Amino acid sequence: MSNHPKNIQTDILILGSGIAGLSIAIKLAKAQPELKIIVATKDQKDESNTKYAQGGVAVVWDKFDTFESHIADTLRAGEYANDPKVVKKVIEKAPKRMKELIEWGTDFDLRDPEHYDLGKEGGHSANRILHHKDVTGFEIQKTLLNQVNALPNIILLQHHFAIDLITQHHTEKRKHTFKDTDIVCFGAYIMNEKTQIIDIYSAQITIIATGGAGQAYASTTNPVIATGDGIAMAYRAKARIADMQYQQFHPTSLYEPGKSPSFLITEAVRGFGAYLKNDKGERFMLQIDERAELASRDIVARAINMEMNRTGAECVYLDCTHLDSTAFANHFPNIVMKCKSIGIDVTKDFIPVVPAMHYLMGGIHVNEFGETNITNLYANGEAACTGLHGANRLASNSLLEALVYGHNIVQHIFKNKLTSKTPTPTIPQWDRAGTIEPKERVLISHNRKSIQYIMSDLVGIVRSNERLFRALDHLNYIYHDTEKLYKKSILSPQIIELRNLNVIAYLIVNQSLEMKENLGSFYNLDLA
Ligand code: FAD
Ligand code: SIN
Repeated sequence: MSNHPKNIQTDILILGSGIAGLSIAIKLAKAQPELKIIVATKDQKDESNTKYAQGGVAVVWDKFDTFESHIADTLRAGEYANDPKVVKKVIEKAPKRMKELIEWGTDFDLRDPEHYDLGKEGGHSANRILHHKDVTGFEIQKTLLNQVNALPNIILLQHHFAIDLITQHHTEKRKHTFKDTDIVCFGAYIMNEKTQIIDIYSAQITIIATGGAGQAYASTTNPVIATGDGIAMAYRAKARIADMQYQQFHPTSLYEPGKSPSFLITEAVRGFGAYLKNDKGERFMLQIDERAELASRDIVARAINMEMNRTGAECVYLDCTHLDSTAFANHFPNIVMKCKSIGIDVTKDFIPVVPAMHYLMGGIHVNEFGETNITNLYANGEAACTGLHGANRLASNSLLEALVYGHNIVQHIFKNKLTSKTPTPTIPQWDRAGTIEPKERVLISHNRKSIQYIMSDLVGIVRSNERLFRALDHLNYIYHDTEKLYKKSILSPQIIELRNLNVIAYLIVNQSLEMKENLGSFYNLDLA
């Protein structure tokens, strides 16, 4: 095998193999078998936030539900900071996209042979969640990968780590600014993690589908891949990044001190009738919101935080003991099994839970076609900010958004991008001159942990100006330390992720400091 970096050319380059990336690859490949599509993903092909989705996908499916009601719930959850046109379009197009997912082989649970079993979650005024037990994401990820396997024009590269987008910054040594309107993306530099070689992937179209950034926090439901790489890359290339102040903390992650990531207890458990109780066994959501346990996530997460502060307890509890145990075990087998593995019998014991960072509403700003402000660069899924979620995402609207916007991107590419090719300039090899193996890798992991604790302690559910400025000071120090390390080190996934997490944390803090009012998931004591 050659040790020299290669220049690999493709029509379409997709970064990430979750629902946002794979659904686009499948649609493009099916419609035009002559297109060359490369999907590069930094871990195993099935490792993604998508795989861990539990509750399901929200969609208006039966005659007891209406688009108007799903739209109203989405806007209310988002505190009306959503883009209403986007909300309407996504929700009205959702049933078609779901039928497609079912045709591709996704097996959603049935209530009876004729009807799907529609679950309920916080903030929804109707039962509208299609699901596969409590492992919906696993089922969807499997379906998408089966489809990809059957399409020879998709090349799926596992353990291929995207480092940076290629723009005129590399081809012309141009210094970009956020005011530039003529930046073009020519592909990405990608590290083959087995050989450590950084190759050029030049592409007509590049699509960022690298997911969220839960790993910026010490306590998160997101797997270790969720380090916001795509958002950080796009930011470095001077793409517009929006709404980073809005993080969604899921109210109910299993309380297991020292375990990371945190295991999720899906909101569908509360939709099924479970109660939230404090350490005295009292239901505390009744005083907070008329929807009690099924208020939207920002409200429930903040209420839990307040209750824990008030009582001094380390967690609150989900009480499922009054529920039909057979039906519960049938709907939530994975949760029952996980609880059993740590000695909790959900038919008799309460489940200890705490809020954990779960979802990033912000990301790379895109228009209705999924286009960023950089030519030939699209973004989809959790890495993108479409305007659907506003200040707080309605439960189970995320997988849906990735499918609907994935479809929009495919349509837009076919209509506008494939007739005339953008000439590719000469792209220089990745410059690794003067770099050496870092002597102490512990410095990298130490800085990663520091970022996670800074964010959890100072930039969590409840913020204040003092905490935000303190966080900024700490992050600045880590930034300078990391840049020194980055410039002199032979690159590794660990150092790239550290650098990206630093960018994400910085964007969250900075955009938090720009807020003038509390809205949805964003809450600063000094603005209250
Ligand atoms: P992901 O699925 O995270 O995929 C990102 C991909 O990019 C991965 O393959 C990753 O390895 C790859 N990648 C990242 N960085 C790089 C890089 N530098 N180079 C190459 N590849 C890279 N939403 C719902 O709608 N319903 C639910 O029930 C639900 N439940 C959830 C439960 C859990 C525990 C979690 C964590 C999330 C849940 N969500 C749910 C949210 C939803 O799962 C995610 O928002 C959605 O799956 C994101 O999809 P994605 O394709 O954008 O990103
Ligand atoms: C859950 O199942 O509670 C998570 C759903 C989501 O994040 O949309």
